[in-house]
Amino acid sequence: MSRVFNFSAGPATLPVEVLEKAQKDLVDYKGTGMSVMEMSHRSSDYMAIFDAAIASLRKLMAVPDNYEVMFMHGGASSQFAMVPLNLFSKSKKADYIHTGEWSKKAIAEAKRYGKVNVVASSEDKTFSYIPKVTKDMFDPEADYVHITTNNTIYGTTFPSLPEVGNVPLVADMSSNILAQVYDVSKFGLIYAGAQKNIGPAGVAIVIVRKDLIGKAMDITPTMFNYKTHADNGSMFNTPPTYAIYIAGLVFDWLLERGGVAAMQKINEEKAGWLYDFLDNSSLFKATVEPASRSTMNVPFVTGSDELDATFIKEASAKGLKTLKGHRTVGGMRASIYNAMPQEGVKSLVAFMKEFELRNK
Ligand SMILES: Cc1ncc(COP(=O)(O)O)c(C=O)c1O
Repeated sequence: MSRVFNFSAGPATLPVEVLEKAQKDLVDYKGTGMSVMEMSHRSSDYMAIFDAAIASLRKLMAVPDNYEVMFMHGGASSQFAMVPLNLFSKSKKADYIHTGEWSKKAIAEAKRYGKVNVVASSEDKTFSYIPKVTKDMFDPEADYVHITTNNTIYGTTFPSLPEVGNVPLVADMSSNILAQVYDVSKFGLIYAGAQKNIGPAGVAIVIVRKDLIGKAMDITPTMFNYKTHADNGSMFNTPPTYAIYIAGLVFDWLLERGGVAAMQKINEEKAGWLYDFLDNSSLFKATVEPASRSTMNVPFVTGSDELDATFIKEASAKGLKTLKGHRTVGGMRASIYNAMPQEGVKSLVAFMKEFELRNK
């Protein structure tokens, strides 16, 4: 078996232990004589897998009882529409903090259903920082406030949550869910696509305070109404069964390693190695201001497009894969989610050091 270090932003590297477990059970899941892929989603074997996955996620995030945890189709992008459709229940106004490509898409979608107020934006500096906000900037009558906790493309993370008073805080947590500890009770709703820190593409997670369910706009399609999924235990239609199974294995893997707090510590250590090197390098430079840096996605540049391209090519030849930055920003980006081993980051830093010496 030969595994590379895959720095892809998503779909992203998964724990090898999870892949091996899935491989072992691929054809005959625990003596059932069938693959999890072939099981009825209503069978007792599959329901056991499903219920365990929900329970593990609840445990990992210490989700309070007054929150629904749901698995859904449609990726995080469907949530850009589902959030306004379900939460525009009173003023039909929402406050958004604009921190990158994903918040831009979320804002565009919400504008189709109500009034969006962009409270703050970091577009002036290519989204290289998280704008400062204060409580008085938010509309107390807004139906919700929306943030993207971690901006996958630009490599920024909210250093702290905005103070929004009684207005529900909604978070797109696609690229740092389960990577750092969040107090779920501070949010009205959390959503995330799975393909970065959780499992394969095809499943999205929604954690929503129960009192926010059941107030959707009349035009909301049945499949876009949280109530549909809450009332049917995420089984109104066939859920993405295999993706949920793999997500469950990842949850168990996290629990075995001490849960989210333990992962956060490792993530800070891994990211620290990279940022320390970048801040002292004569060739490479981190693009994000220190206070807003992500532990998940680390963008960096040499300042020369040609050298960036050479670096990416040579790194790939060394088994350090998918380091090209997002097409909108260029340069490099190392995505170092929970499943990226410490060894992977150490190898990347060692190669960067060596590349720097050769290209001074
Ligand atoms: C922060 C963030 N939000 C939303 C998305 C879109 O997710 P999906 O492809 O699951 O719709 C992504 C990335 O893919 C992302 O990184």
